[in-house]
Amino acid sequence: MSDSAKLSYKGQEYEFPVITGTENESAIEIGKLRDVSGLITLDPGYKNTGATKSAITFLDGEEGVLRYRGYRIEELSKKSTFLEVAYLLIYGELPTQAEYDAFTKEITLHTLVHEDIKKILAGFPSNAHPMGVLSSLICSLSAFYPDSLNPNQSEEEVNLSIVRLLAKMPTFAAWAFKNKMGHPVNYPDNSLDYCSNFLKMMFALPAETYEVDPIVATALDKLLILHADHEQNCSTSTVRMVGSSQASIYASISAGINALWGPLHGGANQSVIEMLEAIKADGGDAKKYLDKAKDKNDPFRLMGFGHRVYKNFDPRAKIIKQAADEVLGRLGVADPVLDIAKELEYAALNDQYFIDRKLYPNVDFYSGIIYRALGIPTDMFTVMFALGRLPGWIAQWKEMRENKEPIGRPRQVYVGATERDYTFINKR
Ligand code: ACO
Repeated sequence: MSDSAKLSYKGQEYEFPVITGTENESAIEIGKLRDVSGLITLDPGYKNTGATKSAITFLDGEEGVLRYRGYRIEELSKKSTFLEVAYLLIYGELPTQAEYDAFTKEITLHTLVHEDIKKILAGFPSNAHPMGVLSSLICSLSAFYPDSLNPNQSEEEVNLSIVRLLAKMPTFAAWAFKNKMGHPVNYPDNSLDYCSNFLKMMFALPAETYEVDPIVATALDKLLILHADHEQNCSTSTVRMVGSSQASIYASISAGINALWGPLHGGANQSVIEMLEAIKADGGDAKKYLDKAKDKNDPFRLMGFGHRVYKNFDPRAKIIKQAADEVLGRLGVADPVLDIAKELEYAALNDQYFIDRKLYPNVDFYSGIIYRALGIPTDMFTVMFALGRLPGWIAQWKEMRENKEPIGRPRQVYVGATERDYTFINKR
């Protein structure tokens, strides 16, 4: 007999099916709740609301587990490559050598962007935040490829959009940076791998020769794997929500970029470095900032700490912390901010406020330190996150489409004025 849950309300009893996923997480299916009882559920921030059934990413926040399509993040970050992980997320299985070669070749062939994109880029002020530039350029692909507006595209056509996104995102990301620097943009170099090509577009200048440092390219590839998907977070839910209205994949991903930008989500990596710099400038007193974070009258939060789902170590943070030590060591970079971060982490993990609330470092706590060591400027950190998250967003958008999910449309409990008559302005 399948499980069910009973709700008793005003003397009536209602029964709802309970469904259980492959990792034994259970959920009450309340699709018929309003029809039978007149009630809806209220759950601001969707803290207890499952929005979909998904076969892409599993995470267990209590145990600190993260798996893409069943594969442990620890193993993928050690053994795989970003494009292989992208394939896995989007198509469900690790590729064979032939599939992998065809996939990377397709992506390489589409790295160039329409020349008119440069005109759009030129319209942005040089102090524009690169996240705003990136989301605009991604959305502009809907204009360059108007066929993508057709919600009934064939699988082949959808795949072409997917390839275009993966191929052009590094170009746009690098160009957003070039716009900020006032440097001429670099065209992609299809002889290079995904990350090396991105680094060359970012850092090469016409006046100098530029050699990609393989340590930097490898570290970046690993960071992108760690960011590649994270089930139904704020930006991913945004991608699925926008996609559910049958807006184009480009518009959906652009919306995800905007959702990621906020400091409570992907923007935290920029905020962490700014916070650590502020602590350093203020004499390096970690305890003072810990006290500020605990003070309910102070809006300051310990950025890079806490997570909606993880109530244990974020497994990505563990890997990144170790990688930070390795990468800085191999590049010979000594960053005093890394010491402040470690001191802050130690102090927080031993502080009752943080222990009681199960607040641990999240993925963003150490990632900025590595990005900085790789030469990536602070306001590009969230762009790097977006570059990594792209395959996850695509996979989630594709799953939503293939499941033929209905348009996302939450309800509300109205608490405003009840019906009243209009009064003319001269009578108010
Ligand atoms: N510093 C201080 N206190 C915190 C922090 C923090 N970073 N995070 C949570 N808390 C406290 C809250 O004040 C609250 O305390 P209370 O119970 O006394 O009111 C309690 O811990 C629970 O926090 P909520 O805000 O209710 O948790 P929620 O799940 O809504 O928020 C979030 C999660 C947004 C990540 C939060 O922990 C936060 O703001 N962290 C800092 C920003 C950050 O690092 N974001 C990146 C997240 S990872 C990612 O998106 C890639």
